[in-house]
Amino acid sequence: MKRICIIGISGKLGQYMTEHALAQGYEVVGVCRPESVGKLERFKGRITVLPGRTDDADVVARAVKGCDGVLTVLAPWGFTNYASGTARAVLENAEAHARLIFSCGWHITKDGKDRYSLRQRFIYALFTFLGRATRMADISDQVRATDLIFASNRNWTVVRGSNLEEGASEGLPVWARHVGDPILASNLTRRSDFALFMVAALTDPALIREAPAITGVNSPSARLASPVRMAASC
Ligand SMILES: NC(=O)c1ccc[n+]([C@@H]2O[C@H](COP(=O)([O-])OP(=O)(O)OC[C@H]3O[C@@H](n4cnc5c(N)ncnc54)[C@H](OP(=O)(O)O)[C@@H]3O)[C@@H](O)[C@H]2O)c1
Repeated sequence: MKRICIIGISGKLGQYMTEHALAQGYEVVGVCRPESVGKLERFKGRITVLPGRTDDADVVARAVKGCDGVLTVLAPWGFTNYASGTARAVLENAEAHARLIFSCGWHITKDGKDRYSLRQRFIYALFTFLGRATRMADISDQVRATDLIFASNRNWTVVRGSNLEEGASEGLPVWARHVGDPILASNLTRRSDFALFMVAALTDPALIREAPAITGVNSPSARLASPVRMAASC
């Protein structure tokens, strides 16, 4: 895999993914809103940027042409179906063989088997309410976006991020199929490591058509659970 595309490249996650992808020798093409191109100044000369909304199918089609992988940030901003439009543009225009990796949060569920705490349910409900009341974010559109992806027969992975923090990389996060797995209890990942997981998923066939929920490899729950898992698999 040589050439990849990052859809939503100018955000925090997008920029971390760009750093990791360049460090791993990928040729990087990116799409971001025209007003955000300036945020990518430090990558000038090392990446190709196509300005445009990430739900603009024409821009996305040009950007993903010839790419072996596409990393997409699903952002639920506004009430214009931005996240589902972005997912559709990628699913319909990416090369047939391309690995398609999408970002979202733990609130997304693939099979309804995730187990959320009361606190998590309250927070998601609050965000949904506030997003709707202010017309700033449509959480249900991120759900529609991932429903489109889950129904697709493409080689997708939906990476579900925990709460995020800034800070130096701790390494590749651990993951589980379902929220509620004890390994995820710490619910905290470095944003740089979320990006690292997205880039690593490009070449991990075990993640095809999976929706891994992640947490930091150095988080207490991951450290507690890992030796048990290793012993159990011996
Ligand atoms: N934040 C968290 O705590 C958290 C937790 C778990 C998972 N996640 C997931 O992580 C991913 C990245 O989220 P993030 O919070 O870390 O933010 P981020 O990386 O900064 O990404 C935000 C994205 O949304 C775009 N955006 C911002 N305002 C917009 C608007 N009004 N209209 C259209 N696009 C807009 C940004 O583009 P511009 O550069 O053009 O502004 C950028 O591509 C998302 O998929 C999110 O669901 C986040």
